[in-house]
Amino acid sequence: MDRKLLEKLEWRRKEGTVRSLSLSKLNIDFFSNDYLGFAQDGFSTNEEFKFRGATGSRLLSGNSEEALSCESFLANHFNVESSLVFNSGYSANLSLLSTIPQRGDTILYDELVHASIRDGIRLSFAKAISFNHNDLGDLEAKFKLASGSVYVVVESLYSMNGDISPLNDIAKKCLSNNAFLIVDEAHSVGVFGNEGQGLVQELKLESIVFARVITFGKAFGFHGAAILGSKNLVDFLINFARPFIYTTGLPPSDYKLIERLVNNKIIQSRQFDLQSKIEFFRKDLIDKHCYPSDLKSPIQIIQTENIDLTITLAERMKMNGIYTKPIFSPTVPQGKECIRICLHSFNTKEEITQLKSLF
Ligand SMILES: Cc1ncc(COP(=O)(O)O)c(C=O)c1O
Repeated sequence: MDRKLLEKLEWRRKEGTVRSLSLSKLNIDFFSNDYLGFAQDGFSTNEEFKFRGATGSRLLSGNSEEALSCESFLANHFNVESSLVFNSGYSANLSLLSTIPQRGDTILYDELVHASIRDGIRLSFAKAISFNHNDLGDLEAKFKLASGSVYVVVESLYSMNGDISPLNDIAKKCLSNNAFLIVDEAHSVGVFGNEGQGLVQELKLESIVFARVITFGKAFGFHGAAILGSKNLVDFLINFARPFIYTTGLPPSDYKLIERLVNNKIIQSRQFDLQSKIEFFRKDLIDKHCYPSDLKSPIQIIQTENIDLTITLAERMKMNGIYTKPIFSPTVPQGKECIRICLHSFNTKEEITQLKSLF
């Protein structure tokens, strides 16, 4: 953790203004936003409609035993000191990038990172420089333009073109350049790692990576996200990350569900099914404009020669009841328009064969 940040936190501790997540033991509620009492199970006697809302932000009335238990489970499961749950991956990235790099620091980011990272960078006072996608030489060159503390931001599995980051080499570069590495694992958790912990853990890079962003809305099939890192990082976010501080927390039941979904023994067999479907999809595709090269990626791309062919192919698929996602500029650079195919453990071989017959 950057010394500047620790000093800021220490200053708040000395001043007595440090924020921390506490559980209120009060019986008489004059602090939550539950104006009509609906968040207390009082809405209906019908089981289907019973719920308990957060009633406020985590720092006010919205903290719960469930939230704290989930965060300590996540820290343990992902082999890291601390974790902090966010309402979405978008707000996790916004928090991390807008809060941690300070004025005078530099953010080096892969040109293909997700919009939520870019928006966080826009809100930051740090200087930001992109490097060519997965290009270690360009990253090295960009280190020479950096000043202050340097943060390198990558995704482990890129959401739009489905290729995997050379994380080992990037981690080495960060070590030799004294930089903090941030890895967005939104699309890797669940899919990779022995029990779905993602690529950072599969590569045993937990102690080198400064912060990981994981999401629960993709392979885990729910919603929400978490930042994984040191206790200092989490304390800093609790104190300074506005998208965390100024929003209503998740309902307690969501934390329970997140814990159950992540700690799910079925993950391995689903991972196995998924990998066999990816292998089946890629078989005999060599001459069919299919990339990326990553054999294990659930995101596969069909690159057509031009935008008209992309539109025609997408239409043909739709007419056959097959839903894929055509990606146009500016999401991808002009001339790189493509069809994005997300493979799942539940897609049957017949479905995949039908899909392949269309291009
Ligand atoms: C790489 C990446 N990071 C973050 C997010 C945002 O996650 P969420 O949908 O939970 O807001 C996404 C969503 O598509 C993503 O692809």
